[in-house]
Amino acid sequence: MTASLSGIKACVFDAYGTLFDVMAAAERARDVLGDKAGPLGELWRTKQLEYTWLRSLMGAPWKDFWGVTGDGLDYAMEALGLEDETLRGRLMNLYLQLDAYPEAKEVLGLLKAAGLKTAILSNGSSGMLSSAVTAANLCHELDLVLSVDEVEVYKTDPRTYQLAVDDLDVEAGAICFLSSNAWDVAGAAHFGLQVVWVNRFGRTAERLPGRPIAEIKDISGLLPLLRL
Ligand code: LAC
Repeated sequence: MTASLSGIKACVFDAYGTLFDVMAAAERARDVLGDKAGPLGELWRTKQLEYTWLRSLMGAPWKDFWGVTGDGLDYAMEALGLEDETLRGRLMNLYLQLDAYPEAKEVLGLLKAAGLKTAILSNGSSGMLSSAVTAANLCHELDLVLSVDEVEVYKTDPRTYQLAVDDLDVEAGAICFLSSNAWDVAGAAHFGLQVVWVNRFGRTAERLPGRPIAEIKDISGLLPLLRL
């Protein structure tokens, strides 16, 4: 599935699961969660994402990603018999300070040094993204942090990917979009971005319209694709 990228002027990254480790919040509470840390992290993420898609399909009023993340956590905690307000507060707070993947900072710095624009485009609310970027010390490596808050609709709606085109002032075909989420890869490729799938977890490709140009294991795999 690997071809090279051409004419790229900007590299735009999904946030959760791509730059930031979404499992880190539950892992850091393993002292209380014990063996439930893994299942809680997985179910929390699954419900968080399902609620973005389902709310959109229902035409439900806009609820930002912080709200949807809280709803997903409430579901997962109840399902696993973990209802506890203090623990809930701790987990939500940990979500604001997720670990960045180890290679992220250096790769972003190299992209910027090569004259490429760098940005995040995420479902995350502006407040969540700003906390995560600050906690991971990535402020200097990113030109823009774009939240779907601006359009009040979630990925994979085309209006979300259009934000990158409009706010970076770079045409769709000159944007390289990277995501570890296969459904986000499909959405961005279907929209018309040049997409690289950061398949950190060895997942299966979605059977959806929109194919990535290349598949890499972590973000450092982008550098040879750009001949850097
Ligand atoms: C994001 C989620 C979907 O950052 O990973 O947009």
